[in-house]
Amino acid sequence: MGGMMAAITHQWKQPLTTISSIVMLIKFKLENNDLDLKELNKKIEQIDSNIYFLAETIDDFKNFLSAKKTKTQCNLNKLIQRAIDLSSDEIMANDIIIHQDLNFSNKTILLYENELLHIILNIIQNAKEAFKENKETETTKMIKIIGSVQGDATYISIMDNAGGISSEQLPHIFEENYTTKQSGTGLGLYLSKVIIQEHLGGSIEAKNIGDGTMFRIRL
Ligand SMILES: Nc1ncnc2c1ncn2[C@@H]1O[C@H](COP(=O)(O)OP(=O)(O)O)[C@@H](O)[C@H]1O
Ligand SMILES: [Mg+2]
Repeated sequence: MGGMMAAITHQWKQPLTTISSIVMLIKFKLENNDLDLKELNKKIEQIDSNIYFLAETIDDFKNFLSAKKTKTQCNLNKLIQRAIDLSSDEIMANDIIIHQDLNFSNKTILLYENELLHIILNIIQNAKEAFKENKETETTKMIKIIGSVQGDATYISIMDNAGGISSEQLPHIFEENYTTKQSGTGLGLYLSKVIIQEHLGGSIEAKNIGDGTMFRIRL
């Protein structure tokens, strides 16, 4: 999702600049009494087609987040398995072991499946990147995904042993645009939190455990 947002920002820059300069031109010409209707019409058409492009980009993004526009009863075992399968090439290439301990006892949850999938993919991706930055680790690189049901609540915990997050950084990781990476967007955890709260009616928290980080999603 972080990459997606960066792509949107990138795609938006050009049309926004274009719209802004057309508006400036119109203003300038109006002030100088130098704008005929025909030209104004042409300029409006140009603005219109740029706005259309902006709207298209946002639609793409929306579709990406919830390919299925309706909530479905989702089997969490299957969903997490799919996330692991989708990340497995990269995980194996980086010598990371994924361990899973899922005890959802076949509970299904009504949600936008695609959204939760991308949130889990994003957390796995962050762990992978943390391992990369933390080069001196000699212990086995491990990502552990634990699922449990406690009363009405369902928990998905994703842990790594990639070195954890410093106490100065930890309070900020869910903030929009907060990143410690050279080419990070700082949008992954921010969007994850917003989606979990607003769409899934849940919560997400992060803390250091042992020699790594634990993200816990409550649904
Ligand atoms: N598993 C992790 N281990 C260490 N730091 C992490 C981990 N996950 C997230 N972070 C920290 O949280 C920040 C924000 O993450 P995120 O919102 O996904 O943005 P990005 O990945 O683009 O930096 C990261 O830059 C990193 O400092
Ligand atoms: Mg990220």
